[in-house]
Amino acid sequence: MKIIMLGAPGAGKGTQAKQIADKYQIPHISTGDIFRANIKEGTELGKKAKTFMDQGELVPDELTVALVADRIVKEDCKNGFVLDGFPRTIPQAEALDKTLEEMGEKMDYAIDVDVPDENIVNRMGGRRACVNCGATYHIVSIPTKVEGICDDCGSGLILREDDKPETVQKRLSVYHEQTQPLIEYYGGQGILKTVDGTRPMKNVFEDIIRILGA
Ligand code: AP5
Ligand code: MG
Repeated sequence: MKIIMLGAPGAGKGTQAKQIADKYQIPHISTGDIFRANIKEGTELGKKAKTFMDQGELVPDELTVALVADRIVKEDCKNGFVLDGFPRTIPQAEALDKTLEEMGEKMDYAIDVDVPDENIVNRMGGRRACVNCGATYHIVSIPTKVEGICDDCGSGLILREDDKPETVQKRLSVYHEQTQPLIEYYGGQGILKTVDGTRPMKNVFEDIIRILGA
């Protein structure tokens, strides 16, 4: 099963993608997480990506497309994968289609997690991410057992650099300009499904399972 998670920054793509990956035993591929891991390790890719990410801009397509193309041909992707945060532009979507076509495959679902802008800013301000394993929490909706400490690995939590309110606004406008057109793109391919991302996480996940089939 090959799935794309679409949705604005903070819509809950990562939260849902992780659960989908666990349930269907397929890799969760988040370009944002890959970039953040590279930043942490101080790689060349990380250095390049950081300048864009901190501004709320997209990392250029040429850096992003190759990364995903290399990842989805790996052995663990043979039963499918869930893409989170990719594609984010029409050229990225076209490049993905081309890579899959060369493999004789195609995407099965593009799930749009729909959340209005008003709800997003609140969510981002409350989000906390683990510095070590990347697990995501929310100070109100998913608090950790011990404040500021990751339940999974015991490391400290941080507010992501790009979750500061002014950067969130920028990310939302970039989303509307460059990523939202993908809704029409996948609608045209007949694989678009929309879920109401304002519902509690558990209900959103139930809606997704109903689409994918248990
Ligand atoms: P990326 O890491 O993909 O960030 P994003 O799309 O901005 O999305 P987020 O991770 O912020 O949100 P999410 O939808 O995953 O929500 P989450 O589940 O965490 O990208 C970061 C940057 O990397 C980009 O800005 C860009 O620079 C670069 N980049 C990445 N991919 C790229 C690409 N393909 N091309 C170019 N550049 C790229 O949830 C958010 C919060 O809400 C959490 O606290 C969560 O607990 C809470 N929450 C989730 N669901 C619910 C719910 N139903 N109810 C209440 N709270 C909820
Ligand atoms: Mg995410």
